[in-house]
Amino acid sequence: MCGIIGYVGNRPAVPLLLEGLQRLQYRGYDSAGLAVLAENGDLCVEKSVGKLAALASGLRGRWPTSRLGIGHTRWATHGRPSDINAHPHRDCQGRVVVIHNGIVENYLALKERLVDQGHTFVSETDTEVIPHLIEHYLQDGTSLELAVGRAIGQMEGAHAMVVFSVGEPDKLVAARVGNAGGVVVGYGQGEMFVASDLPALLPHTRQVAFLTDGEIAAVTSQSVSYLSVDGAVLAKEAQTVSYDPLSAARGNYKHFMLKEIAEQPEAILDSIRGRARFEPPAVVLEDMAIPKRRLSQIRRVVLVGMGTSLHAAMVGRHYIEQIARIPAVVDNASEFRYRKPLLDADTLVVSVGQSGETVDSLAAMDEARRQGALQITICNVVGSQATRIADGVVYTRCGLEVGVASTKTFTAAIAALYLLACYLAQERGVIEDEEHLRSLIDPLARMPSLVGQVTQGDEEYERLAHRFSRYNNFLYLARGVQFPIAMEGALKLKEVSYIHAEGYPAGEMKHGPIALIDEEMPVVAIALRDELYDKMTSNIEQVKAREGTVIAIASEGDKELAKKLDHIIHLPQASPLLMPILAAIPLQFFAYHIAVRRGFDVDQPRNLAKTVTVE
Ligand code: F6R
Repeated sequence: MCGIIGYVGNRPAVPLLLEGLQRLQYRGYDSAGLAVLAENGDLCVEKSVGKLAALASGLRGRWPTSRLGIGHTRWATHGRPSDINAHPHRDCQGRVVVIHNGIVENYLALKERLVDQGHTFVSETDTEVIPHLIEHYLQDGTSLELAVGRAIGQMEGAHAMVVFSVGEPDKLVAARVGNAGGVVVGYGQGEMFVASDLPALLPHTRQVAFLTDGEIAAVTSQSVSYLSVDGAVLAKEAQTVSYDPLSAARGNYKHFMLKEIAEQPEAILDSIRGRARFEPPAVVLEDMAIPKRRLSQIRRVVLVGMGTSLHAAMVGRHYIEQIARIPAVVDNASEFRYRKPLLDADTLVVSVGQSGETVDSLAAMDEARRQGALQITICNVVGSQATRIADGVVYTRCGLEVGVASTKTFTAAIAALYLLACYLAQERGVIEDEEHLRSLIDPLARMPSLVGQVTQGDEEYERLAHRFSRYNNFLYLARGVQFPIAMEGALKLKEVSYIHAEGYPAGEMKHGPIALIDEEMPVVAIALRDELYDKMTSNIEQVKAREGTVIAIASEGDKELAKKLDHIIHLPQASPLLMPILAAIPLQFFAYHIAVRRGFDVDQPRNLAKTVTVE
């Protein structure tokens, strides 16, 4: 969850590290810290609780020139956010310095042992055992990278870390164990970078190498060598990534979240571009090197994800069943991984995630691999761990998402799942004839402009949000393929506005939640003109009969519903299966405007992180 950056080269390190941390702040933001090696050989460490700005202003004008250093932005696991608990952490002599992402699960036992050996600790963190372990192994005169490998050998859990030592003043050592977030090495001219993910490196280089589980990189300004945690030399090549760093600029938008909501027409376009072929109709998925024979073998699909991505997976389940005609279930990855699931070579596991580094989703994928299941991942981050485990990838291709609350990656993931379902139908011979395939693919062509039409309604959504910003509880109801959108609407409101909200299948309302309904609990109902419309309108009547206030997301031209309700948002008509993409958008705006009205930091909501690498 934490952000990690390291630099070694010929330029002043501090501004580069601060700039890198700025780009990584979305990963964690309760405290931040830097460590650099001054030109006179001194180790200088500065840490500060709070957001990065606190650290940067504390440093102004009083930082030594240096060409090597590391920086960290933290999401606390062990030890509350404080100056002392912030990373980097040091050994007893102040010669080894470490930044870390993950949890040292056996840190109490290690700490006890190290204290018995005479080591002294200053923080409440698990991370602090790492520099002391490395200090211990360096006593033998071993190199830093081998000492890091030996320290890792003692540590349980998953880790991503960067280390340097005063004793080897031109070297950074980075390591990755398990799924505690990525480690990427960036190759420059006479300089090298390491970071927890790409955004921090993109302004400087597109030549990168990703560490996989159990790999260590020893990085100097001129070279990098790779080894396994047990010291074996590894061959590893850099690759070129094609992300556009400019897409991360906020432009004229007040917040990244607002920008990313507004970017959805392009996000959907980018996600279908070149894949949905209209004449003759076809679906082409470029990162799907799975033989037709293997796809034909699939008897069951299991979709997994967490949070917003789980909601996209829930929509995807409808697509897999209705379009590809394969029995499908959906599961929360953190439950799935411990459920002792029964999988086999005839099962396709589809993992959905924007970061491709969510620990629970990766663990679910590891389980799927162990049982020989076929795997496809839907992901936004090129080269992330999920994309390396899966047999096939459908990238959402919607550029960096900086706002911690996912918006454009959600709707783009739904579009990608729709394409995947069409692709499976096509490759498995479920498609009856060309007209059948055309009827599935043609509706995609209108989606970018329909999404654009819905985003144009921003002022209306803002007015509605202001009218409802004083309420402290909301219920979101929907049915069928729209039910996951009710869940997502409620999640967005919770995340950025800190308002209690629940998403329910409307049919479930009578089985309990109806007891909560009164004039203080607005109900957001997605009631589109689809096959479940009559059922939804009955549920709306039931709410109204109990003095409930209803905000409806309805189909364009639905005058009947408009007569009954004071608050209604109309959506243009798309193919019913693609309507979830449209319905999600007003709910994203609604949560955004309420949060802004309440004065909250929408891009970095409290307690959240963009990449969740701890359980
Ligand atoms: C919510 C949000 C989270 C993530 C979840 C999984 O706005 O972003 O719920 O969806 O943490 O992360 P990924 O999608 O990276 O697997």
